[in-house]
Amino acid sequence: MKQDILLLFGGCSSEHEVSLKSATTIINNIDKSKYEVHLVGITKEGRWLLYKGNDFDLSTNNWVTSGIPAILSPDPTHKGLCILRGEGQEPIYVNIDIVFPVLHGKNGEDGTIQGLCKLAQIPYVGCGVLASAVAMDKGFTKIVVEAKGVPQAKFVLVKERELKQMDQVVNKIEEAFAYPYFIKPANAGSSVGISKAKNKEELIAGLNEAAKHDSRILVEETIVGREVETAVLGNEEVEVSGVGEILAAAEFYDFDAKYNNAESKTVVDADLPQSTKEKIRAYAREVFDAVEGKGLSRVDFFVKEDGSIIFNEINTLPGFTSISMYPMLFDAAGTPIQELITKLIELAAL
Ligand SMILES: Nc1ncnc2c1ncn2[C@@H]1O[C@H](COP(=O)(O)OP(=O)(O)O)[C@@H](O)[C@H]1O
Ligand SMILES: [Mg+2]
Repeated sequence: MKQDILLLFGGCSSEHEVSLKSATTIINNIDKSKYEVHLVGITKEGRWLLYKGNDFDLSTNNWVTSGIPAILSPDPTHKGLCILRGEGQEPIYVNIDIVFPVLHGKNGEDGTIQGLCKLAQIPYVGCGVLASAVAMDKGFTKIVVEAKGVPQAKFVLVKERELKQMDQVVNKIEEAFAYPYFIKPANAGSSVGISKAKNKEELIAGLNEAAKHDSRILVEETIVGREVETAVLGNEEVEVSGVGEILAAAEFYDFDAKYNNAESKTVVDADLPQSTKEKIRAYAREVFDAVEGKGLSRVDFFVKEDGSIIFNEINTLPGFTSISMYPMLFDAAGTPIQELITKLIELAAL
């Protein structure tokens, strides 16, 4: 018998569009002989819409215009999706065995959806509530990873309310390490709200910009080095892929360089000494373990000129677009995308 999979996509997040692309890849590649797929798109406003059409071109927004309101019930006795109907009519319940949240960033990768699945007692693909929340927040990730001794960029954490005393904040940062700085909202993704500051004016502008996206801001020293990524798959026993490299066609890998600039390239087997790659893979395992990772994650690092490795960030629901590193790394490691999706679903837990 086929398992009923609830595929959630879209979401109230600055990475809504990326999620649509990831969902398209998953829908086109999921093993339909094993799984009955129920598609629920979440609009940017947070509406949940069940899409029953057969053309999976989610980029055209037909899932919004022809979608039927449907929500995941937190009541475990409903066991799934609740299709809402007109006044006076009972909702229809559709059994769901596993939820696959193909959502990136806020309200999807941060533990919120995971909490709902937990309440509903439906196993879901990927990291749990705690791991998702910790890995989503770049500030908390820093603290957890620091305790493991994995090298990372020096940092200062700033709260939005501290910005009222901007001079003090600037002094604290300038005393900690030298320009240029990377300024990031603690909770964001796809480079949204991130800037690089070469002087005090840019630092102040960057802090104010980051504060538009989150009340917690991370300021880091700039790491000059190559950007590499590795993919992790598994629960207790994890597989780690090879090491890929990002060749950004911009000063840094910003949103445009990631998704719009055809000059940005990815390499699935970075040209690095074997020993460096092994160390990166070992660090990826440690970071995944440190945040209590489950299912999947992509772990990103820098490699400096002298060969030293610096952890950058962990993504618990990495991009799954046709040009995304996570599926490409596993494909290169001998797990083609359909098999990868099946493995992820089989790893789903509560
Ligand atoms: N400390 C840093 N030094 C140099 N470059 C950085 C640093 N932090 C981030 N970057 C650049 O900015 C990009 C986006 O930052 P990242 O922390 O990966 O956020 P996101 O979650 O948005 O991907 C990175 O891919 C890298 O190009
Ligand atoms: Mg990144």
